[in-house]
Amino acid sequence: MTDPGQRLRSSLAADQSAGTASVTGMAEFDSPIAMEALRATKVLHAADQEPFPAPGRIRVITIANQKGGVGKTTSSVNLGVALALYGLRTLVIDLDPQGNTSTALGVEHTVGTPSVYDALVGDSSLADVVHPTTASPLLTCVPATIDLAGAEIELVSVVAREYRLRRAIETHLQSLPPEQRPQYVLIDCPPSLGLLTLNALVAGDEVLIPIQCEYYALEGLGQLLNNIDLVRRHLNPGIAVRTILLTMYDGRTKLADQVADEVRNHFGSLVLDAVIPRNVRVSEAPGYGQSVVTYDPGSRGSTSYVEAARELAHRGAALPPLPARPSPGAPVAAPVGAAFPDTDAATVPVPPASEENKA
Ligand SMILES: Nc1ncnc2c1ncn2[C@@H]1O[C@H](COP(=O)(O)OP(=O)(O)OP(=O)(O)O)[C@@H](O)[C@H]1O
Ligand SMILES: [Mg+2]
Repeated sequence: MTDPGQRLRSSLAADQSAGTASVTGMAEFDSPIAMEALRATKVLHAADQEPFPAPGRIRVITIANQKGGVGKTTSSVNLGVALALYGLRTLVIDLDPQGNTSTALGVEHTVGTPSVYDALVGDSSLADVVHPTTASPLLTCVPATIDLAGAEIELVSVVAREYRLRRAIETHLQSLPPEQRPQYVLIDCPPSLGLLTLNALVAGDEVLIPIQCEYYALEGLGQLLNNIDLVRRHLNPGIAVRTILLTMYDGRTKLADQVADEVRNHFGSLVLDAVIPRNVRVSEAPGYGQSVVTYDPGSRGSTSYVEAARELAHRGAALPPLPARPSPGAPVAAPVGAAFPDTDAATVPVPPASEENKA
C-alpha cells in the first residue's frame, strides 16, 4: 500500500519541478495546487492540529439507508478515518456481505478471516474479530466476509436474533479498560432492511443517514424512517436519527441544490453543514485499499469528510451520558420479524428525538 505521506511528498516534488509551487518556501497559497498541498498537509498532520473533542458518551452510530450506492460505505470509512486521525478511538463494523468497508480500510476479508459473521452467528467475541488498520493506530475494523450473506437466514432460528450485534458490542466495550474503549463505533449497513440492518438499528444509539444529492434520493426514506420508529418502539427505545449527511453533491447541477434544499427543509438541524461533493478521488481510493482521506488528503472529497467528521465530533461532545440501557432480550411489546412491514412512505414522520437527543 502506498504510504500517504510518500504520495504527498512525491506529488509536491512533481509540482515543484513543474514550477507550480515551492514546498519549503510556500509563503503564498494563491494557486490551487498550493492550496491543495496545504490542505493535504493539514489532514496528514492531523495530530499536530487541534484534536476533535471527545464525545459525551460512547457513540454507536448506525449508518443506514436501504437505497443502494448512496455513500454508506464511503461515509463509514472516511468518517472513521477522519475521527481516528483527529484523535478519537474509532471502531468501524462492516455489516455488509459485500465487504466494501473492509476493502477500503485495507483489511483482509477473504473466506475464513475472523469476521463479524463469527460474532453474529457463532460464538466469537468482537475482540476475536477486530483487526487493526493502516490508516491510524486509533482505527480498528471488524471486517465482513461473504459468509455474512447467509447470516440473514441462519439468524432466523437464533434466540434473540435482533440483539446479537448489540450484545457483542456491549460485551466488547465492557471487556476493555475505559482508556481503550472506542469512542466511536460506526456500523456500515447493507442496502436492505433485513435482519442485518435490524441488528445494526438495535445495536446503535443513533442513526446517520447518507442521502445522495440525486433524483430518487428521497425515495424509500419514509420506509427507513418508519422502520427506525418501529425499532424505537419495540426493540431499542434509545435509537434516534441524529445525523443526515448529503453525499455526492454536484454543484454544477440544479438538481443537487434542489435535493439538498428539500432535505434541509425536512430534516432541519439534523443535516450536517458539511456536504460531500462528487469527487473522483473518493471513488478511486478503495481501489488502493484506502480512504480518500489517506489516499488524497488534499482533495475536496477528503477535506469534506474531515469537515463532516469535525461537525459530528463537535455535536457529539455536547451529548450527555446515556441512561442505562434496558437489558437486551427483554420482552418486547410486539414481535418484529426479519422483514419489516411495508409502509406508506409519504405519510411517515421523522422518528421523534427525545429532548436530550436534540443537543
Ligand atoms: N463523494 C463521492 N464522489 C464520487 N464517488 C463516490 C462518492 N461517494 C461514493 N462514491 C462512489 O459511489 C459508489 C457507491 O458508494 P458506496 O459504496 O459508499 O455506497 P453504499 O451506499 O455503501 O452502497 P451499497 O448500498 O451498495 O452498500 C462507490 O463506487 C463509491 O466509490
Ligand atoms: Mg456499502
